[in-house]
Amino acid sequence: MVENPNNETLARRIAGLKREKRAVILAHYYTRPEVQGIADFLGDSLALSVKARETDADIILFAGVRFMAETAKVLSPDRKVLLPVPEADCSLAASCDAADLALFKAAHPGCRVVSYVNTSVGVKALTDICCTSSNALDVVRSIPADEPIIFAPDRNLGAYISRLTGRDNMILWGGACHVHEEFSAEGALEMRRSHPGARIVVHPECRREMVDIADYVGSTAGILEYCGRCGADEFIVATEPGIITEMQRRYPDKSFIPAPSSDASKRCCECEYMKMVTLENICRTLEEESPEIVLDEDVRRAAERSILNMIAIK
Ligand code: 13P
Ligand code: SF4
Repeated sequence: MVENPNNETLARRIAGLKREKRAVILAHYYTRPEVQGIADFLGDSLALSVKARETDADIILFAGVRFMAETAKVLSPDRKVLLPVPEADCSLAASCDAADLALFKAAHPGCRVVSYVNTSVGVKALTDICCTSSNALDVVRSIPADEPIIFAPDRNLGAYISRLTGRDNMILWGGACHVHEEFSAEGALEMRRSHPGARIVVHPECRREMVDIADYVGSTAGILEYCGRCGADEFIVATEPGIITEMQRRYPDKSFIPAPSSDASKRCCECEYMKMVTLENICRTLEEESPEIVLDEDVRRAAERSILNMIAIK
């Protein structure tokens, strides 16, 4: 949806550049509405990883954060992969450093390493199987029950999967996403008192107190699908509120309210990194074909193996 006239001009310019340069734009659900509006593919982390692998475009522009663009480059090494804002990082990816993970692995020999796709390419290179929130349960279940697992970096997702599988041999890395950790269960329950029919939907990166009050727990794609099939008309949404653009587009007769932050000074929990991507910087990036993601080939190959192991499971 392109609303202001400047955005319309930029969207036309971007469409022209995409045709001229055989470029494709992949965008995550957390990006700004006008960025979602010009994307060729909009999706969750898993769907976008698969699209990055399948595309035959010459250029992939990733409207999202660094780890997503790196994943696209790992899977499509012959394409030029562009990231409009190189500083658009991710607090969860930043919570696990490759050198620290190497030491951790050495301290826990014999473990299989499962890492969330929200990690640097260096961490993926040290990983046996990647996962996303859509397939983490299947990935962990694919590993024999008696094999210990190092699960990195999200402690909340790891604890949730450990409870679902009943596995007590998952060693959890202590990382977290600052956006999802900020939701308040007390605030969400208070909100539901004034919207008694509303369902609370929660991303598994949230803290246990949120998971415990949820009517549904799932990835962004899972939450979208649940809101469609569930008979309720109102939803309190405990994940980054950018997803509400897609919820409203798919289900215009339902209403979606961002779950409150535990920080009383904030209306909701937004990912500032995802919001750094704008039509202006997308347009400039396509014009200049820069900034580009460049990876060391040995690290790329090692990371690719862990992502392909994940894709093979789904
Ligand atoms: P999914 O798209 O896998 O649900 O991930 C959520 C997220 O935090 C991406 O940064
Ligand atoms: Fe990273 Fe959290 Fe932002 Fe997703 S929402 S990109 S996990 S900081």
